[in-house]
Amino acid sequence: MRTLISGGTVVTAEGSFPADVLVDGERIAQVGSGLAATVSADETIDATGRYVIPGGIDVHTHMELPFGGTFAKDTFETGTRAAAFGGTTTIVDFAVQSKGKSLREGLDAWHAKAEGNAVIDYGFHMIMSDVTDDSLAEMDQLVAEGVPDFKLFTAYPGVFFSDDGAIFRAMQRTARNGGLIMMHAENGLAIDVIAADTVAAGTTDPIGHGLARCSVLEAEATNRVIRLAQAAKVPVYIVHLSAKEALDAVRMARDEGLPAFAETCPQYLFLSLDDLGHGFEGAKFVCSPPLRSKDHWDELWKGLVKDDLQVVSTDHCPFDFHGQKDLGQGDFRKIPNGLPGVEDRVDLLHDGGVVGGRITKERWVEIVSTAPAKLFGLYPRKGAIVAGADADIVIYDPNRTRTISATSHHMAVDYSCYEGRTVQGAPDLVMSRGSVVVRAGQFAGRKGAGRFLKRATADYARMA
Ligand code: URP
Ligand code: ZN
Ligand code: ZN
Repeated sequence: MRTLISGGTVVTAEGSFPADVLVDGERIAQVGSGLAATVSADETIDATGRYVIPGGIDVHTHMELPFGGTFAKDTFETGTRAAAFGGTTTIVDFAVQSKGKSLREGLDAWHAKAEGNAVIDYGFHMIMSDVTDDSLAEMDQLVAEGVPDFKLFTAYPGVFFSDDGAIFRAMQRTARNGGLIMMHAENGLAIDVIAADTVAAGTTDPIGHGLARCSVLEAEATNRVIRLAQAAKVPVYIVHLSAKEALDAVRMARDEGLPAFAETCPQYLFLSLDDLGHGFEGAKFVCSPPLRSKDHWDELWKGLVKDDLQVVSTDHCPFDFHGQKDLGQGDFRKIPNGLPGVEDRVDLLHDGGVVGGRITKERWVEIVSTAPAKLFGLYPRKGAIVAGADADIVIYDPNRTRTISATSHHMAVDYSCYEGRTVQGAPDLVMSRGSVVVRAGQFAGRKGAGRFLKRATADYARMA
């Protein structure tokens, strides 16, 4: 099957230019002008007036994550379908090592969840919650199998938490095997003390979650793990950075020339501590790190402009308001942490970033697709519009508007954090490895068509 995408503006991280794109089978065969006159195709898709961009890559999702006595609602089928509707054609999800279990058991379980269900391509990172001699040794094998990143936590004592010694040992291991440590950086031990004090003082509503998890404790942990990585002589990637003080720690390290990388998420750019108010309704917005006051927004955008933040991913981890979030009625500590978002990232960043005049359209493509591909061993197979790359392509209308709502979204969750927000920019057609998965708002893909992506090590991070 050969498809010609004609008349569009190709937008890449490097620049924008009018060009036709010829897709042959699963790959991009040619990018150039006037291809309609020189090549034959089974189908020609007119992209006039639209952008032709590499499919979005969301390197932080949690399909079916066990958390707080329940599971994130989206399966690999529903979650990747929703991702595709939003212009994302690759996810990297977090497999979970449970305490007392091996990495292998966790990874096998995640392969079983995804295989035969995902509609777009997917990879895995590994959550390490039990650093032992055995699990350290297992890391080498996972790197060899294309799962080269390991998320550790200074948060969630008793669940995913690792102490500094454990984190340092895992970092030392990646110095030898080429893997990358991803850190959830909040001082969970101190936060738990403040949270207990907050409940004891009578604040049990979701706002207590935001007040207890103060930004200085994110900054402290961020600086600490960066310095641990410095001592271990390895790069480090900070996930879901939310606070300007934490960004300061990353910026300082980068100014020193250290290979410290970080992502933020749409919720930290568009939502705020105010959303955690309004009584128990605020449970819809409970995630960790928590939403911050609005004065953090400008700093995070500045971080994206200046490349102190390289990536925007979603941390997609949806729980229904009715039946899941309400486990925390009367005690905010029992609200499952996480927000839905995999469907809205590309459009929110286009609307707030490009239309809002904060970033160029080329930088938008970079932070939603190309930079994650480079940092996570997928480039140039993904994240690029170039001959030889996988034909993961979005024909994007920068002028069409849509209103975000739980009544029309495709995520398996009963609310939207962005209910009623109108965004400018929407995908008209989404292609995954040469096959159309979404066309004119209709799903055209196939359950199980997504393939596991064996990813390379973080060489890009090491060379920085
Ligand atoms: O609140 C969040 N972020 N839930 C998902 C788990 C994690 O820490 O990423
Ligand atoms: Zn986390
Ligand atoms: Zn997460």
